[in-house]
Amino acid sequence: MKGVNCQNKGAVSKVSFICLQLYVTAVKKLATTPGQQFPSSPNNASKSGSVPMTSDTQFPVPVTARPSGPLSGAARVPGDKSISHRALIFGGVAVGTTTVSGLLEGEDVLRTAAAMRQFGANVERGENGVWRITGCGVGALREPDEVLDMGNSGTAARLLMGLVASAPFTTFFMGDASLHKRPMGRVRVPLEEMGAKIISRSGGRFPLAITGQSLIPIDYELPVASAQVKSAILLAALDTPGITRVREGKRTRDHTENMLRHFGAEITVTENADGGRSIAYRGQQELTAADIIVPGDPSSAAFLAVAATILPGSDVTLSNIGLNPLRDGLFITLREMGANIEILNLREQAGERVGDLRIRASTLHGIEVPPERAPSMIDEYPVLFIAAAFAKGRTTMRGLHELRVKESDRLSAMAAGLKACGVAFEELEDGLIIDADGTPPKGGGVIETHLDHRIAMSFLILGLATQTPVTIDDGRVMETSFPGFVEMINALGATVTRGRGA
Ligand code: S3P
Repeated sequence: MKGVNCQNKGAVSKVSFICLQLYVTAVKKLATTPGQQFPSSPNNASKSGSVPMTSDTQFPVPVTARPSGPLSGAARVPGDKSISHRALIFGGVAVGTTTVSGLLEGEDVLRTAAAMRQFGANVERGENGVWRITGCGVGALREPDEVLDMGNSGTAARLLMGLVASAPFTTFFMGDASLHKRPMGRVRVPLEEMGAKIISRSGGRFPLAITGQSLIPIDYELPVASAQVKSAILLAALDTPGITRVREGKRTRDHTENMLRHFGAEITVTENADGGRSIAYRGQQELTAADIIVPGDPSSAAFLAVAATILPGSDVTLSNIGLNPLRDGLFITLREMGANIEILNLREQAGERVGDLRIRASTLHGIEVPPERAPSMIDEYPVLFIAAAFAKGRTTMRGLHELRVKESDRLSAMAAGLKACGVAFEELEDGLIIDADGTPPKGGGVIETHLDHRIAMSFLILGLATQTPVTIDDGRVMETSFPGFVEMINALGATVTRGRGA
C-alpha cells in the first residue's frame, strides 16, 4: 500500500543511544526556547511586522492586559489543534491528495507538518491558505534525515510516536524544555507491548528514539483518560495485522476515530454499559485521501467566551466553532454558572459537529463542576478558573490530576498566578476550589507562564477585567495554538499590549 511520493521500507537501523544523545545535544543548543530557530509560520510571514507576539524573537516578550470596556463584534478563531494534527498525519499516510482548509497554522501543528514531510509526504500550503497533502500510503513512511523536533507539542509527540512504531527504521524525537518534562511512559508502555523498541530518559521522557518493528495487535485498557494515548495506539495499529483494541473507561475526544472513518477505514466503536468505549481497528487497511474543513478550536474560543462573559456589556459572536460533544464541556459549565451562550447554526462538517456561538455578558455564580466532565474540557480549566474568580460563591473543580502533566503543572501555575492577583482559593492535589464575591479581583500580578500557552492567555483574560493590569512574563508561547490572539481580542475591544504594565 504505497502512495506516489515515498520510498520503499528501509532496513532497520540500529543506532545507539549515545549517538542519539550527542546528536540531540547538538541540535538542542539551537533550540532551547519555544520557537527559537523556528521558521516563521505562514501567518507570521504574511503579516510580518504587525504581529507583536511572534516567537521568532530570542528573548521573552512580556505582555500586559489592561482593564477594558465591553467586547463586541464577530471573530473567527483559528482551526482546531487536535483536528489539524490529525489531518496532516492521516493525509500524510493516505493514498492520494487531501486538501485541508482552516488548518491551524500555529507552531505545534507546523511541527507535525514538518515531521510528515520528513516521512516522505508532500505537504504544501497554497496561496489561498488551503493545504495540500499527498500521502505515502500506510506502511510506506521514509526514514527521516533529522531528529524530529516536536517543540512544545505533546500531541505531535505522542501521535507521531505511535505512527513510527511500526516503521522499519529508527526515529529520534526531541522537544523544548516543557516537553522534556512530560510523561511519555503512558505511550511507551502500550507501544512496547506491541513490540516497538524504545530508548528514552528516565520515566519514558524525551529525548527518545523508537526503532519500529512488525507489531502485534493488543487489547489495551487506558490507565488514564487520554485521547493522545488512544490515538498513538490506533496509529501504531494502522500497519499492524489483526485487530487492535483500545478500551477507555472515560470517553475522550474521538477525532482520530472520526478521521479514520472519513478516510474510508472501518473502525468499530462499542459503547460500554459503564459509559466507556471500546474501539477496535483492523490494521493494514488502505486510507483514501479525503478533503477536510477544520472547524474553529473550541479550546481557543474558550478564552474569548470567558472574556465576553465577564466584561459587562459585551456581545460577541464566534463563528464556525467545533462543538464535538467530547469537547464542549466548558460551554456547558459556563451556562450552568449563568453564562449567556447561545449556539446558532448547529451543523455537521466532515464528521464533526460545528456551530456559531453568541456570548453576551452575564453575572456568574459558583457551582460544583462534575469531575467526570473533565475529559471534555481538560484544556479549558485554566480559563474556567478565571471565570470562577468573577463568579459569586464557591466553584469546586476536582478530578484534575491530568492538569499537573500538561505543558506546565497547570494547577500550581494557575494557583501561583491567582494568588498574585488577589483571588481566594484552595489548591487540592486534584483540583482547585475558588471563592469569590462577584466583584473584580485586584489583579496587578506578574505571571510566570512556564512555556504554557493556556496559562498565558488565561491571565491576559483575567487582566481585562481586574482592577489593575495583569502582565505575563512571556507571550511568545501563544503562537503554539492561537496565532493572532492579541490582535483578535484587541479588535473586539480589549487593550492588550506588548511590555510590562504600569
Ligand atoms: C489532545 C488530547 C488532550 C489535550 C491535548 C490535545 C489530542 O491530551 O489536553 O491538548 O489532540 O488528542 P491528553 O490526551 O493528554 O488528555
